[in-house]
Amino acid sequence: MKILVATEKPFAKKAVDGIRGIVENAGYELALLEKYTDKSELLEAVADADALIVRSDKVTAEVIAAAKNLKIVVRAGAGYDNVDLAAASARGIVVMNTPGQNSNAVAELALAMMIYMSRNRFTPGTGSEIQGKTLGIHAYGNVGKLVGRKGKALGMNVVAYDPFIADEAVFEADGVKKVATVEELYKASDFLSLHIPATEQTKGSIGYDLLMSMPKGATLVNTARKEVIDEAGLVRALTEREDLKYITDIAAGNQAELDEKFGKRVFATAKKMGAETAEANINAGLAAASQIVDFLKNGNTRFQVNK
Ligand code: 3PG
Repeated sequence: MKILVATEKPFAKKAVDGIRGIVENAGYELALLEKYTDKSELLEAVADADALIVRSDKVTAEVIAAAKNLKIVVRAGAGYDNVDLAAASARGIVVMNTPGQNSNAVAELALAMMIYMSRNRFTPGTGSEIQGKTLGIHAYGNVGKLVGRKGKALGMNVVAYDPFIADEAVFEADGVKKVATVEELYKASDFLSLHIPATEQTKGSIGYDLLMSMPKGATLVNTARKEVIDEAGLVRALTEREDLKYITDIAAGNQAELDEKFGKRVFATAKKMGAETAEANINAGLAAASQIVDFLKNGNTRFQVNK
């Protein structure tokens, strides 16, 4: 059995060594395709792979069609919007993610981004503090929860919105106030941290109206996906409200326009940084390898997302 790790943005070496250990211990072969620059390299590498580990790499219908022996794809991370689930399911290929494994790294980055913007991107004489401010969490999943808890520890008032969590106790346990509507959330939040996945329902859903409802001096923090932002609405809101700020870990399609028009009020990392820690790479990479071995040997489908 051949397990291919295909990562345009490679894992830390320690993570790759750990993955190799798990794969070879199970009696399988590891193949590595790192820093590839063209889709054709991936199409060639998957041709004889039985299992595939990826990060944000695009596993399209074309990739799946080229992978004649493929049985399982594991997205080492949370969001699996990069995998064509319909194409995988049509071939009976199991798709999994590794929920929670890189959440702490993303949560730490979200908090760092809030501080960076509240210190006016480290401009002397112009900063303010996040303590005492209201932090809104949009979606209280693995990352959202950690951001909420860390925000509480830093003295923030934390509110959250998550229509998929009915149990109030989940929020109460963290001292977080649950709000009933998305409108209420944005209206209350000096800092709004986005943790929604990119789905047909969420794409383009964060735009002008929600941004305009935020308090004076508010900052939108996006460590989720660029697709959830209505970019034209964002430009309009930032134009009309000179106090609003936007910081993102996934550059917008119109990032050059944002940078040019709004200067210090916007910031995007050059490459997605959320899961770029040794710990996150090790946790997610090793979990992916273990899940593959457990599936191939024992049929365990616990983390399957295309059931
Ligand atoms: C995730 O969905 O797990 C994060 O966005 C991290 O993505 P990455 O592995 O491409 O850095």
